[in-house]
Amino acid sequence: MEYLDLAPASHASGSVRLPGSKSISNRFLLLAALAEGETSIRDLLLSDDVKRMLEALRALGIDWQRGEGNDFRVRGADGAFPAKQAELFLGNAGTAFRPLTAALALSKGHYRLCGVARMHERPIGDLVDALRQLGADIRYLGNEGFPPLEIRPATIRAGGRVTVRGEASSQFLTALLMALPLTGAGAVVDVAGELISRPYIDITLNLMARFGVTVERDGWREFRIPAGARYRSPGMVFVEGDASSASYFLTAGAIAGGPVRVEGVGRDSIQGDVRFAEALAAMGARIEMGPNWIEARAPESGRLQALELDCNHIPDAAMTLAVAALFAEGTTRLTNIASWRVKETDRIAAMATELRKFGAKVEEGADSIAVSGGLTFVQNAAIDTYDDHRMAMCFSLACLGGVPVRIHDPSCVNKTFPDYFERFAGLVAPVIAIDGPSASGKGTVAALVAGKLGLHYLDSGALYRLVALAALRRGVALDDGEGLARIAGSLPASFEGGRILLDGEDAGTAIRSEECSAGASKVAAFPAVRAALLERQRAYRQAPGLVAEGRDMGSVVFPGAPLKVFLTATAEARAERRYKQLIDKGMSANIDILLQDLRERDARDSARAVAPLQKCADAELLDTTAMTVDEAVAWVIERVRQRLPQAAARS
Ligand code: DC
Repeated sequence: MEYLDLAPASHASGSVRLPGSKSISNRFLLLAALAEGETSIRDLLLSDDVKRMLEALRALGIDWQRGEGNDFRVRGADGAFPAKQAELFLGNAGTAFRPLTAALALSKGHYRLCGVARMHERPIGDLVDALRQLGADIRYLGNEGFPPLEIRPATIRAGGRVTVRGEASSQFLTALLMALPLTGAGAVVDVAGELISRPYIDITLNLMARFGVTVERDGWREFRIPAGARYRSPGMVFVEGDASSASYFLTAGAIAGGPVRVEGVGRDSIQGDVRFAEALAAMGARIEMGPNWIEARAPESGRLQALELDCNHIPDAAMTLAVAALFAEGTTRLTNIASWRVKETDRIAAMATELRKFGAKVEEGADSIAVSGGLTFVQNAAIDTYDDHRMAMCFSLACLGGVPVRIHDPSCVNKTFPDYFERFAGLVAPVIAIDGPSASGKGTVAALVAGKLGLHYLDSGALYRLVALAALRRGVALDDGEGLARIAGSLPASFEGGRILLDGEDAGTAIRSEECSAGASKVAAFPAVRAALLERQRAYRQAPGLVAEGRDMGSVVFPGAPLKVFLTATAEARAERRYKQLIDKGMSANIDILLQDLRERDARDSARAVAPLQKCADAELLDTTAMTVDEAVAWVIERVRQRLPQAAARS
């Protein structure tokens, strides 16, 4: 099985711009599709669940286009969907399946909706029962009460009252409310039983209002859609950052020093999950909040305290509290979380099983969980994620207990947060990316900076040199892209205590020969070679951080690096340095030939199609032509001090 190993970490700090909220993205898409006029949606989340919604809308005859980045334009149908027949596959996206079921049930067409196996285990009977009261013709194609569903054309009763149960999922009420304006008449929705996850209904009502439909409510029992309600595009809308996703980063700050700042949600957010920050504060974390940011730091005492909390208002983010509980003094009790049982997996059972892998005492109730914390993390754990993005994200935090953690099937985070692990690594293992041309001295500077700050060091050029050396030794031609990529994919090389080994033998001197230098520049031009080395380079990012040097560290390998330096010097200065190096080693050298070689290599590295040598727009320029090595090192460390004070504190 695919897995990701997270190295032990003890400190987290930095800032993260959050991806868009899933709940808001999928609601905006549906509302825009049903509205009159065109809607421009900015900062849409591009994750699996949102892609399922986009595909479904296209199959239903909705015209949408992607603009720059994550901006989308949707041309609304001004009412029911144009396509009167469609087969929709909705994966495991509850935020697509439920609202589309309701909207299609009122669309007078013939549709089939299905998803992955787990989607077919997630109940939908409460919603179907409500829609049938309006006259909808919905049939279960598998088990009674569960997807897949078939919807047939039916005469829909205009107006009147509908009752929906509120105890299992708030998404049923959301789905009904969003679809009811399609009937063209006013309607009243009665909620039977206790309504859970109310903040999600607030989001629904808020977004419907932005599209021109104001729902009146009487407490949480009765909701009125006014007669003549019709969606109209507000023109442009912005998707807030995902407040549930914020919970992992804030918790990292609360557990492991901080400060960690999330940007994209804050005091002005319409998402209930921002109140997760209050729960962290109740555990002792120091929290600050602005209109669209939140920052978390560990308690003054250094240790979180256990918490007892009714989590009805933060059902998704509450999972993160269960993992924070591992680090807290005392027993944390989370109650009113029955909805966990019908999510991507049975989250109460899954959470209990995985928490116990760290030696925690866990009590599982029908709608609660109690976790005893204050652990010394003595065990290594391999975490199963149950195809549940939140399980994977939650348990990444456990490495902050100073133990290695293996996350199985890490790509399940694609559901809501495709680059989650990269962002997380950015907090616990920041990267200082130093790029520049050959012989600029960046290798010497990078290694010294890493040594002074106690960070890991990656000499990415050595990997390309090793590929060239292995090819020369095995008789693989330097223009045989496929053969070179095969070597790169299984390069028997390692870096041990400053030594560079190939096939177990010291290759440190051999890879520095002029033949290997020229060869490396040639093999590095093959896209397949670069692709084969990409993940290998990324694996060097481990806590407490990495100084990585090469040509494309800031542009391709670590584009999110918080500090990027482009270190260069004139070709003449570089040739002279190289000349002195060779002479000092007792080797013969000709400065004109060295200069000529450097210029050729610069040209090849800069002109190649993939990952050319370039200064990224966000990199700082360091010209060392007139600098000593010590001056260059001091310059970089000063930048680290400004950008990454925690990392610099070790120097
Ligand atoms: O940094 P160096 O001189 O050891 O690099 C050797 C060659 O490898 C150089 O010609 C360019 C290539 N290289 C690359 O393409 N990308 C990197 N990240 C590092 C090196």
